Amino acid sequence: MPFADAIGVFDSGVGGLSVLRAIRAALPAEDLVYMADSGHAPYGDKSEAHIIQRTLTVGNWLASSGVKAITVACNTATVVAIRHLREQTHIPVVAIEPAIKPAANTTRSGVVGVLATTQTLQSESVARLCQEHGEGKRILLQACPGWVEAVEQADLHSVRTEALLRQFVEPLMEQGVDTLVLGCTHYPFLRDTLQRIVGDDVALIDPAVAVATELTRRLGDNRRLNKQPIGTTRFFTTGNIAHVKYVASHLWGDAAIVEAMP
Ligand code: DGL
Repeated sequence: MPFADAIGVFDSGVGGLSVLRAIRAALPAEDLVYMADSGHAPYGDKSEAHIIQRTLTVGNWLASSGVKAITVACNTATVVAIRHLREQTHIPVVAIEPAIKPAANTTRSGVVGVLATTQTLQSESVARLCQEHGEGKRILLQACPGWVEAVEQADLHSVRTEALLRQFVEPLMEQGVDTLVLGCTHYPFLRDTLQRIVGDDVALIDPAVAVATELTRRLGDNRRLNKQPIGTTRFFTTGNIAHVKYVASHLWGDAAIVEAMP
């Protein structure tokens, strides 16, 4: 088993590295296998059937390669396909979803913006989260086309990217949001530029640390936490290896050796 005892983490592209870094910080002893499905990205404007098919293909590849748990580091894959993946796997599957609950619980103005992909915002899961936690609050759903592509190009601070961010957050600011949910794992890489635009009084909510905490709890409950001093990190992709290596190294902050998904 090539990935025996490792934790598998995947996203449509490099965005899930924002979750991987929280997992690495929480679990330094674990071997991590990250899979960027860049050859099939972005998921956010694809059909449900496509997202389900990709989630099952990548999830089953990780499981059959021996990982002890899977983290779905992609909100779009979670809200569209998680049920299907859980039906097919017998290992723990921990999945990120838009942090609407903590945002609704902490907003002071009562107006929350949810930034995510089109598919995520159209999902039943987001409708349910808004219904369960949005009482007495205004929850504004905002799709952000182009943001994923900017992160996939490591274009985080350019004038063009700043204009793209302003286009979608300024209308939310005018409606009084004081809390923005980063409902796509690519968006935390835009945090600095975003915070500069919205100002320090607006909270940006990223649930990556909560996902790492939940993963730690699940592995601990199953007595599957590693005892070795330091774990390895391996990167795989279905996309262009040279490009993913360049962007992943930039976002990860360390040289990433990227291999093709076999
Ligand atoms: N990073 C993904 C998410 O959290 C999706 C990006 C995409 O492929 O559209 O939703």
